[in-house]
Formats: sequence, C-alpha cells, structure tokens
Amino acid sequence: MELMNLFSPEKIANVQIKNRIVRSATFMASSEKYGYVGQDLININSKLASGGTGLIISGYTAVDPGGTASPYQECLYDDSFISGQKKLVKAVHEYSDVKFALQIAHTGRLGYHPKYPAVAPSPIPVKETGITPRELTSEEIKELIKKFIEAGIRGYECGYDVVQLHAAHGYFLSNFISPYTNKRTDEFGGNIENRARIIINIYNGLRDELGKKFPIMIKLQIDDFIPDGLQFEEGIKFAELFSEIGFDAIEPSGGSEETRVLTKKSYPCLIIKSSDDENYFLPYAKKIKPLMKNCKLILVGGIRDPLQAEKIIQDKNADFISLCRPLIYEPNLPNRWKEGDLSPAKCISCNNCFPRFRDDAVCCVTKNQLEKKKN
Ligand SMILES: Cc1cc2nc3c(=O)[nH]c(=O)nc-3n(C[C@H](O)[C@H](O)[C@H](O)COP(=O)(O)O)c2cc1C
Repeated sequence: MELMNLFSPEKIANVQIKNRIVRSATFMASSEKYGYVGQDLININSKLASGGTGLIISGYTAVDPGGTASPYQECLYDDSFISGQKKLVKAVHEYSDVKFALQIAHTGRLGYHPKYPAVAPSPIPVKETGITPRELTSEEIKELIKKFIEAGIRGYECGYDVVQLHAAHGYFLSNFISPYTNKRTDEFGGNIENRARIIINIYNGLRDELGKKFPIMIKLQIDDFIPDGLQFEEGIKFAELFSEIGFDAIEPSGGSEETRVLTKKSYPCLIIKSSDDENYFLPYAKKIKPLMKNCKLILVGGIRDPLQAEKIIQDKNADFISLCRPLIYEPNLPNRWKEGDLSPAKCISCNNCFPRFRDDAVCCVTKNQLEKKKN
C-alpha cells in the first residue's frame, strides 16, 4: 500500500515541503559548550535529512543567555553563533529537498542557570524545584520581545527556511498564556488578548522585518492538564487568534513539568502503553483544524503508525504529522515507510531518551541496549 497522502507535498506559506512528515523540535543536548554548533549536531541533523523527513525543526534555541536550559543547548542570542549555525543549515540543505526550521525559546520560569535566576510573568514557585522565578517588569518583557525578534532574524540570515516560536511545555512564552503562571494586571496579563500580547508583538516584529518570505510557526500550549492551569476551552481561542493574525502553522501541544508533578501524567511526552494511547493530541486537532484559515496544522504527540498517519492527513485532521521520539530511535523512519515497510515506529515511547543527568546528550537508550545485547 502506498501512503499517497503522507508522501504528498504541501506548503507552509511559500515554503514547499516534500512530504507531510515533520521532525518535532528536539533538544539533543549536543551542541558544543555554550551553545555553539559542532560536528555532533551536524551529524544528527544530516542523518535526519538523509532519512526522508520533509521539515526538520531544530532543538529549542535560546534567545537570551538567561533563557538557556543547558550548556549544550543551541543558542542564537548574538552574532557569534551565526557562522556555526550557517554550517548546520548548509549541511541540512545539502539534501536539497529538505527544509529546516529554527525553534526559538527562552526557559522562563523553568530556567536554572547558575548565573541568571529564572524569570517569569509572575513569581509562582515551580512545583518540582521549589524555585520562585523573579517577576519581570514590563520594560524587561519588551527587551525579551526584541531578543526573540533578533534571534529570528539571525535565523533567517543563517539560511533557515522557517522559524517556530516555542510557546508550550511551561517555557517562557507559555508562561504568559497560562493563567496558572500569569497573574499580571498590566498589558501582558489578564484576558486572552493581553496574555497573547507578547507572542503577537514578536510575530509583528518578525513580519515587519522580514515580511512574508520567512514563514512563522508556533508550538502552542493548548492545555496545561492541571487544575487552575490553561484549559482547552481557552487554548483553542489562542489557536484561533494566532491563526487569524497570520501565523503560518500551529503545532498544538500541552503539559509541562508542573503537569508531571501534579498529575503524574507525562505530557507533552506521554508514555504509550497501548495503541489507544497513540495520537494523543488528535482529538484537539479535530476541534482546532476547522478554525484555521490559511494556517497549517501540524499534529504532534504519539504518532507511531504510518497507516494512521496517512488517515490523519487524508481525513484533513492535520496538514502535517510531527515526530520526536521515533526519530531519535530511527532517523531513517520516513524512508522506511516510503519504501513500503509499514510497520510502526520502533520507538516504545519509554522516555528513557531524556538524559538522566542534565548535561548528557540525548539518545535512544532502549535501542542502544538492544544493540548491545545483539553484539
Ligand atoms: C528528548 C526530547 C527533547 C525535546 N525537546 C523539545 C524541544 O526542544 N522543543 C519542543 O518544542 N519540544 C521538545 N520535545 C517535545 C517533542 O517535540 C514532542 O512534542 C513530544 O516528544 C511528543 O512527540 P512524540 O510522541 O513524537 O515524541 C522534546 C521531547 C524529547 C523526548
């Protein structure tokens, strides 16, 4: 059986993607020390590019030194990072039909940099660490908006095809969306429009600088899955608003470290125990998709079976499907499916790819153990 829909081309704004398979942003903890591109990162992305993925989204890339998650996380907060990033983009573009998106981010209340205390819209203690982030002034928020815009522009200069704002999983931009973490009473807090303001201002800044030639996507928190957090009834309104103002693609997601502590559910990376747990954001996508105007919907979360992926695209419940953990195990997965091996991804979604120690590189521990046993 041929996967006619999954392997058909589609555009995000002016950028043609050869198929409907996206590599969801994945922090691999594999840059050189303090965020510079090295050979490891080039090798990881080259493998993905040769493996058949249509659009690769980078790992979350810091827009500010205070918004980094690890010394081995990519950064683009000043021009010193440009030459390495250009090499990385060039390596991916060697595979001429593969597109590359830069995900830009700030850790927000989840920051733990020894030199820079965590910052957030409001000083709400983080459940897991007990750390209370410092509340930003509105002037400081405006400074960070500028930093997001500057990092996006640098991304364009480096040759990336698309930019994605990381506004999910409890990081900085999602801290504004969630009523659990945003208690502000100024222009950046309160009603939906105010909580969306930081994202709208970044969006407008990028559009003013680069026009339509650089598509802007967003990974968007649509549910915190905790009491007093963002509920889907509001999450869907954010999606509609961002579609209306002109975002080119939305990748809905949800949950955060807070969710894991309070509910023991591992959103955004659910541990999948049976096929019933797969495609876990599909019910949300079905509700969001009819509201999208010219904005594409990228479905992430537990997609493992190519036949189901094909049906999701065929039924127009999403324009693209997005994979993270399966591509850590099998960077060649899209080619495998295209060549007719339609067995599901080998990834068992155990989450052992998350490093046990903060500075360890991400890898598929399960696959490595299996290979060790074989030898
Ligand atoms: C090791 C690891 C690193 C991740 N890094 C990021 C990231 O940098 N940015 C992001 O938006 N999501 C990140 N995610 C979440 C994934 O992009 C994705 O939303 C989630 O894993 C669900 O997709 P999956 O079931 O295909 O793994 C990460 C997930 C894992 C397992």
